[in-house]
Amino acid sequence: MLRKSPFNRKKILIGVTGGIAAYKIPQLVRILKKEGAEVQVVLTESAKIFVTPQTLAVLSERPALSQFFKSDQGEWNNHVHLGLWADLIIIAPAGANTLAKIAHGICDNLLMSVILSARCPVFVAPAMDLDMWTHPSTQANIETLIERGVTLIDPEEGSLASGLEGKGRMAEPENIAKTLANHLTPAHNYFFGKRVLVTAGGTQEPIDPVRFIGNHSSGKMGFAIAEQLLSLGAEVELVYGSVSVTPPKESNNHQALTAKAMQQTCEQLFPQCDILIMAAAVADYHPTELASEKIKKSDNTLTLTLEKNPDILKTLSASRKPNQVCIGFALETEQEELHAQQKLQKKNLDCIVLNTLKNPQAGFAVDTNEVTLYCRDGQQFHIPANQKNQVAATMLQILGEWLNKPQS
Ligand code: CTP
Repeated sequence: MLRKSPFNRKKILIGVTGGIAAYKIPQLVRILKKEGAEVQVVLTESAKIFVTPQTLAVLSERPALSQFFKSDQGEWNNHVHLGLWADLIIIAPAGANTLAKIAHGICDNLLMSVILSARCPVFVAPAMDLDMWTHPSTQANIETLIERGVTLIDPEEGSLASGLEGKGRMAEPENIAKTLANHLTPAHNYFFGKRVLVTAGGTQEPIDPVRFIGNHSSGKMGFAIAEQLLSLGAEVELVYGSVSVTPPKESNNHQALTAKAMQQTCEQLFPQCDILIMAAAVADYHPTELASEKIKKSDNTLTLTLEKNPDILKTLSASRKPNQVCIGFALETEQEELHAQQKLQKKNLDCIVLNTLKNPQAGFAVDTNEVTLYCRDGQQFHIPANQKNQVAATMLQILGEWLNKPQS
């Protein structure tokens, strides 16, 4: 399943250097792309003897880069940007010369400068002849690299291009992919492979065919949570009401405009989910009667009778199995903490996320938010004002760590 792949949405930079094993790199690109990774290839001039940049560009769906400057247009391939873009760099094949250059910080081509600018984990999959591999210089360079945190994907034994038999063949693309996958699947990622029901946006409760009772919710916070969950390898069922932004493409998206419709959709989905994150602003009431025609203006006042909506979160939480997690949101304008804590208890939640409206940088329409998490065991976590996607990332990191601890 694509969404469960640890490569999903990961930015992988493959550095290809000169060596016969470079002919296997198109296969590595295909595997990573199929698993949902974004792949950028940077190759050295000598790699081009063994594999064409065109093949790598077609398979990676990005130009394969080797020069600092793009022909005569004066545009440059920003190595710092490339180094910072990558979540992970794999140099494959890494020849003896390349290993020596990395170990000594020699920066004489685009790939070397990308490696020097990188802040992400770097992997090397060496490929060379048997004697070059065992040579003390190569082994010393490898040791230096390992000491500095580079991960070695050991070469395999077998027939070498020289006709000799022994260690020196580049690990097969499938094995390289497996090593990278293990690295990208941290044991502490609580959300990896989990199915999460996220609600977002505001409900609209119709009065007549042209009017409704609604609220200012934009759906930005719920969608930011969905995006982050997808990046963490979760499967996301996203149920949303009225929103002003586009939902992520990779979640399973369900629009439900009224509280009743949202309740029905959530009730169908929740039994198959591990976690519920209820970020939607659900209207508490709906008009008792829905006028079949547009209500005409008549008297100076108009009275609408409203009827209570179901409390979706409370109902779902009451029906949950012991291993299902329920997280709610609260929006308060006074006695924020007290009201949030009361909702945590009343709705039987694991955690409630309090949105503060006191900070102008937080709330419905803006791109920033400030929240405090109140957990069932009394722990509290404050997340200062920041972009909503950053707040979502921090929130999920905190929740993941909290949920990973044995629960009382
Ligand atoms: N919620 C819900 N169904 C409702 C109302 C709220 O599922 N009919 C959920 C919200 O999605 C949120 C949490 O309950 O996760 C708290 O919502 P909030 O509007 O802050 O509180 P209410 O329970 O509606 O209480 P009040 O309006 O009195 O503050």
